[in-house]
Amino acid sequence: MALRKVVYIEDHLLRKKSRPVTKFDDRLHTLLDDMAETMRSLNGVGLAAPQVAVLRRVVVMDCGTGLIEMINPEILETSGEQTGVEGCLSVPGRHGLVTRPMHVKVRFQDRNGEWQVLEAEELLARCIMHETDHLEGQLYVDIMDREVYDDELETADEEEPENTDGKQEK
Ligand code: NI
Repeated sequence: MALRKVVYIEDHLLRKKSRPVTKFDDRLHTLLDDMAETMRSLNGVGLAAPQVAVLRRVVVMDCGTGLIEMINPEILETSGEQTGVEGCLSVPGRHGLVTRPMHVKVRFQDRNGEWQVLEAEELLARCIMHETDHLEGQLYVDIMDREVYDDELETADEEEPENTDGKQEK
């Protein structure tokens, strides 16, 4: 496995539509392994192939429930709504408030080409929408409600952890 170079918001590759994967071979498996390693090395929860300069319909995610690989994903259904803070490894140092569906049903191929269906909600639903947008050449900054600045993030962090502190002291 190897780390891949992540491209940033100015790169025109991020604005292109990615092509479907047709060969489920060693080259794809290497790409998937490299993408997972790269995502983890940068503490990301998702990474799409265009972000490592490969215009193919491949995404990896880990929203705390283990690694999920999706090839040629297609959103089948969405419902509900959630609004929350989002970032992107290709847009370093920035965050935005983005409204997404609360529930998502997605069909995709695994690394062996087998079709799978997954129903997701909350963070994973957000992540699936964010990553599949990358395959269409869309970034969250295109659809965000507004920019979220660092001082707002710090305030949000300070408001939450009372419980966490209490648990740590016991
Ligand atoms: Ni992203």
